[in-house]
Amino acid sequence: MATTQNLEVLNVTIIEPRFKHPTIFERFDKLKGGEAFIIHNDHDPKPLYYQLMGERGNIFKWEYLLQGPEIWEVKISKLTPVEGETVGELVAKDYRKAQVFKKFGIDFCCGGKKSVAQVCEEKGISQDAVEQELRATDEKETKRQAEYENWTPSFLADYIVNMHHTYVRETIPALYEYTTKIARVHGERHPELIEIVKHFTNVANELESHMPKEERVLFPYIKQLDEAKQKGVKIAPAGFGSIQNPINMMEMEHENAGGELEKIRELSNNFTLPADACATYTVAFKALQEFEDDLFRHIHLENNVLFPKALELEKEVVE
Ligand SMILES: [Fe+2]
Ligand SMILES: [Fe+2]
Repeated sequence: MATTQNLEVLNVTIIEPRFKHPTIFERFDKLKGGEAFIIHNDHDPKPLYYQLMGERGNIFKWEYLLQGPEIWEVKISKLTPVEGETVGELVAKDYRKAQVFKKFGIDFCCGGKKSVAQVCEEKGISQDAVEQELRATDEKETKRQAEYENWTPSFLADYIVNMHHTYVRETIPALYEYTTKIARVHGERHPELIEIVKHFTNVANELESHMPKEERVLFPYIKQLDEAKQKGVKIAPAGFGSIQNPINMMEMEHENAGGELEKIRELSNNFTLPADACATYTVAFKALQEFEDDLFRHIHLENNVLFPKALELEKEVVE
């Protein structure tokens, strides 16, 4: 590689055709946020732009330095998360990033509208460490990316109801039983258990009134939008006005539910079992943690995948 403007120049014309794109991708994957390189070519490398968009997502900047007729040069920069995407968008593109955020205690669903830099600063954790782990997930196979993104909004809505709403309804009674039991038996030595029951009851009640709103109003409307798009027809606006209205309400309720779970996590010291924990105590904490995990995925799919798709659909098909 030669160097111009202190940037590496990758001369694509001298690479064997079948190695051109893999070589460029390899170079791109090694970039850190804010770094760039230049590709030098004898024709417009536009197909590469679409391939990068498709396989890596909107995480780069594409600038033509020279545009033919004989030589094309493009500066490709990797965006830093600050100018690029929010935590929620990063997870929406690649669910494996959720594990990284979880490990660092970063909220990617309710608080998902902040950049990595912002959340790291707020939490006082090293942005470098987080970004290093995020890059590691990029380097692994990328095929699973866009898994949810590729589903139709109708399919996604049904999936959420069948997987997550069903799970919530099936789990609440047992969790209520376990938590009240350990609060009764161990509440004297562990008064935080009594608080945990209160917060669990709050989140359970909230979800029991929240899910029917999605099932009876919002999701059927999203399916209607989706169907109109498939048929290529326009539909009249809904009684509730823009879909942004129910979405705002659902997002607010998600935030409340997330807040209750955050309190449970704090009170239980990240679900740490005390030395005197009995079997029910152990089961209750494990089940609470699973409940939190499932709710975070559930809210993530709604806030970061389904709702943005529904807003796009509304623009396309509502008169
Ligand atoms: Fe839901
Ligand atoms: Fe929801």
